[in-house]
Amino acid sequence: MQLVLVGATGLVGRHVLALALADARVRSVLAPTRTPLPAHPRLRAPTVDFDDLPQTPGWWRADAVVCALGTTMRVAGSREAFHRVDHDYPLAIARLAHRDGVPGFVLNSAKGAHPRAPFFYSRTKGELEQSLCAIGFDSLTFVRPGLIGGERAQPRAGEQWAGRLLAALHPVLPRGWRINPAVTIAAQLLEAAIARRPGVHVVESGALT
Ligand SMILES: NC(=O)c1ccc[n+]([C@@H]2O[C@H](COP(=O)([O-])OP(=O)(O)OC[C@H]3O[C@@H](n4cnc5c(N)ncnc54)[C@H](OP(=O)(O)O)[C@@H]3O)[C@@H](O)[C@H]2O)c1
Repeated sequence: MQLVLVGATGLVGRHVLALALADARVRSVLAPTRTPLPAHPRLRAPTVDFDDLPQTPGWWRADAVVCALGTTMRVAGSREAFHRVDHDYPLAIARLAHRDGVPGFVLNSAKGAHPRAPFFYSRTKGELEQSLCAIGFDSLTFVRPGLIGGERAQPRAGEQWAGRLLAALHPVLPRGWRINPAVTIAAQLLEAAIARRPGVHVVESGALT
C-alpha cells in the first residue's frame, strides 16, 4: 500500500514512519513536512507550506492517510493558531486526499474528543472528527490516546509531571487513564491505515496501554 503521513517529525509520527518503512506491506510513504527528514529509498518527504498545501490533482493519491499533526497552546500562542494546526490543516489535507481518491483516513485524535466538550482542546479534536465524518472516506479511524508516553527532543514540563503521576498510579488506574506509549499508538494508526476496515472506527485510550 501507499501511505501519506503528516506529522512525521513528531513523537507519534516518528514511530509511524519507522514502523511503516520497516513494514513490507507498505510500498511507499509520502510524508510532507516543514522540516526535512533523513532520506530512505521508500520515502518521499517534500517540505511544504501547510498554509499553502499542494493542490495539484493527484498529488495526495495513496491508499490511506495517517495524520499525527498537532501543536500545543503554548507553542501556538493563541487559540486561533492552535485551531489552525490541529483542525484546519488536517481537514484541508483530508479534503485534498479524498479529492484524489484516497479511501482511508486515520487520525491521531485525543481522549475526550467531542464537538461540545467543555475544554477547547477536546472540542477542537471533536470538531475535526465531526468534519472528517462528513467527507465520505470509505474507512475512517479515530485513535484517541490519553497522555502520550515517549522521549521528546524538547521535553514538556506539564507532560513530564503528569507522566510521573500516572506512572506512580499505574497499578490502580483503570486502563483508560494509563499512559499510552507513542509506539503503541503508532502501531494502531498504521494497522488501521493498512486494514482500511469500511466505516467509522474509534480506538479509545484503554486499548493503547
Ligand atoms: N501530548 C499528548 O499527551 C497528547 C495526548 C493526546 C493526543 N495528542 C495529540 O496527538 C497528536 C500527536 O501528538 P505528538 O505528541 O506526536 O505531537 P508532536 O510531537 O508535537 O508532533 C506534532 C507534529 O505536527 C507538526 N506540526 C506542528 N505544528 C506545525 C505547523 N504549524 N505546521 C506544520 N506542521 C506542524 C510537527 O512538525 P515539526 O516537527 O516541524 O514541529 C510534528 O510533525 C497531536 O494531534 C496531539 O494533539 C497528544
